[in-house]
Amino acid sequence: MHDFLLETVRLRLRLFREDDLDALLRCRSDERVARFQLWDPFTADDAKNFINVWKEIPPGTPGSWSAIAIQLKKTCEVIGDCALKVENGENLQGEIGFNLSPVHQGRGYATEACRSLLEYAFRELKLHRIIAVMDADNKDAIALCERVGMRREAYYKQNTWYKNHWGDEVVFAILQKEFLAANESGII
Ligand SMILES: CC(C)(COP(=O)(O)OP(=O)(O)OC[C@H]1O[C@@H](n2cnc3c(N)ncnc32)[C@H](O)[C@@H]1OP(=O)(O)O)[C@@H](O)C(=O)NCCC(=O)NCCS
Repeated sequence: MHDFLLETVRLRLRLFREDDLDALLRCRSDERVARFQLWDPFTADDAKNFINVWKEIPPGTPGSWSAIAIQLKKTCEVIGDCALKVENGENLQGEIGFNLSPVHQGRGYATEACRSLLEYAFRELKLHRIIAVMDADNKDAIALCERVGMRREAYYKQNTWYKNHWGDEVVFAILQKEFLAANESGII
């Protein structure tokens, strides 16, 4: 059991637990959540395996992704997940990703979680640069990156084959110094 915990005004970000199974399944079995992902909508077994794999891997583990549950403080409901990958060694590069149950989208929760995760990655883990990679048609994910001050750095034409088509991908990024300057002046 790890004590990783981030708190925002409305959210708690923590590692997954076995009793999050139903909430994770609700979110990740939804075709709208899986649409732009390399994975298919989750089955109950997928959700169980996911929690078994990720419940013990805290953010900042070198060379690894970690999966983090997004929980509403008010109701304790888990409404989605986010993820942080930290590269091995001295490169200090990271990557983030986000998923919210459709019923909880459109209220700024992903923005709130993303800011908190960036703050943790830059202030606590001292990462130098963080990227997010998404399908070029994933307008909501692109808007999220723009809201948290990330810069569009790359557009890859048909670089990924998934769900029976060639997908274009975009890469957003933000440097530690850019985030900290914006954060301290209240922009992010
Ligand atoms: C990507 C994803 C997490 C973004 O979720 P989201 O709900 O659009 O983002 P937020 O929770 O930050 O909400 C932002 C919306 O709430 C509104 N909002 C309301 N209150 C707000 C607040 N306090 N702060 C910020 N935005 C707020 C914003 O105006 C925005 O509305 P709009 O979409 O009409 O412009 C979500 O679309 C998702 O889970 N998609 C499926 C999975 C996926 O593809 N993930 C990305 C893989 S790379």
